[in-house]
Amino acid sequence: MADKVLTRLEEGVLLHEADGRLIYANPAADALIRLHPVWTEMRGQLDQMIPVQAIADARAHPDWHGIVPFLPGRMLDARLYWLGPDAGRFLLLLKDGVRLRSDDEQALQLRHEELNVRFNAAQEQLLQSEKLASIGQLAAGVAHEINNPIGYVHSNLGSLQEYVGNLFALIDVYERAMRAHDPHAMRSEIDDTRERLDVDFISRDLPQLLTESRQGIERVTAIVRDLRDFSRSDREHAWRLADLHAGLDSTINIVWNELRYKATLEKDYGTLPMVECLQSELNQVFMNLLMNAGQAIDGEGVISVRTGHEAGQVWVEIGDTGSGIAPEMLQRIFDPFFTTKPVGKGTGLGLSISYGIVAKHHGRIEVESTPQTGSRFRVVLPVRQPHVVVAP
Ligand SMILES: Nc1ncnc2c1ncn2[C@@H]1O[C@H](COP(=O)(O)OP(=O)(O)O)[C@@H](O)[C@H]1O
Ligand SMILES: [Mg+2]
Repeated sequence: MADKVLTRLEEGVLLHEADGRLIYANPAADALIRLHPVWTEMRGQLDQMIPVQAIADARAHPDWHGIVPFLPGRMLDARLYWLGPDAGRFLLLLKDGVRLRSDDEQALQLRHEELNVRFNAAQEQLLQSEKLASIGQLAAGVAHEINNPIGYVHSNLGSLQEYVGNLFALIDVYERAMRAHDPHAMRSEIDDTRERLDVDFISRDLPQLLTESRQGIERVTAIVRDLRDFSRSDREHAWRLADLHAGLDSTINIVWNELRYKATLEKDYGTLPMVECLQSELNQVFMNLLMNAGQAIDGEGVISVRTGHEAGQVWVEIGDTGSGIAPEMLQRIFDPFFTTKPVGKGTGLGLSISYGIVAKHHGRIEVESTPQTGSRFRVVLPVRQPHVVVAP
């Protein structure tokens, strides 16, 4: 009799052992299990059908009621009863065709959106922190580079002040000699003064000092110009046709402050058309690849930058004679936070961010690497972005 009722019931009725093994399912439950690939494969194992927390709840209370996801867009109303330590079993009732109450639905939707927003904010924060880290490195390099010329221009200005003072003093003596009725009598005073004030030395040193100061200022101007080029489209942040070589050069100039002590640069540029891109973001990619190349070199090595152009695509290749990457690591280097560098030196975000930027450009990054020999990262980009055709 009871058996007949169970067979006709539209509700799924299941009996599980304490360890979750399924020992009975009525036809309705059986049909549900067959619809669900994982449930089928796991033979209706309890913890595959119901959240683990629900099972613990049922044992403690001794029942649990909730809604469980079934198939995409389809939920089941579930009740789980713990039949007590004597029986040592679970009774599970499943009802199909649940419509979420619209309140629930709305709450779910809101929760979903909230999670999404939080996820995006977290991701944005990561991007910012990697950007800050690279800006920090950059700032240190730039400060170092500017410090030197500023230092000697400053000290040269000190000398210049003294020289000019001396020259005016000498002019004074000449003036007095001209006004004196007996200029010849002043001759020895002029000679004395010239000697005392080191005027011969000044006339040799002054042109040299001015040339050197001028070069120093030009160097500072160049660094500032590179920085401006590097960051320009950061402000504009727009897709435009850009000269990748110009971007590469200004990026190399900035990064080179740090790299030149260990690496020599080999440049082999092809001819490139103007490329539709977000230039400052691509500069960030080049910077990451160059920094990685430099950091991979222990002692001294070579960093090569090559470019080329073929059928609708351009490529920029940054190679190094550094440590190389073990084959089993190769598929992980683009993962966020994957780093083999000590804390403070590596964030593990450079390549994952670069990957994202290149993907946004509908391009790709290819890697070839041999341990102990070196690596080559090749960024391949379409010359023009595919334009979305909006259906009428
Ligand atoms: N040119 C390279 N040579 C050797 N290993 C590299 C090179 N570029 C990247 N890697 C490896 O990939 C990892 C991830 O790089 P990246 O995402 O830029 O993070 P980070 O440089 O902060 O470690 C590095 O820690 C390093 O192990
Ligand atoms: Mg890096």
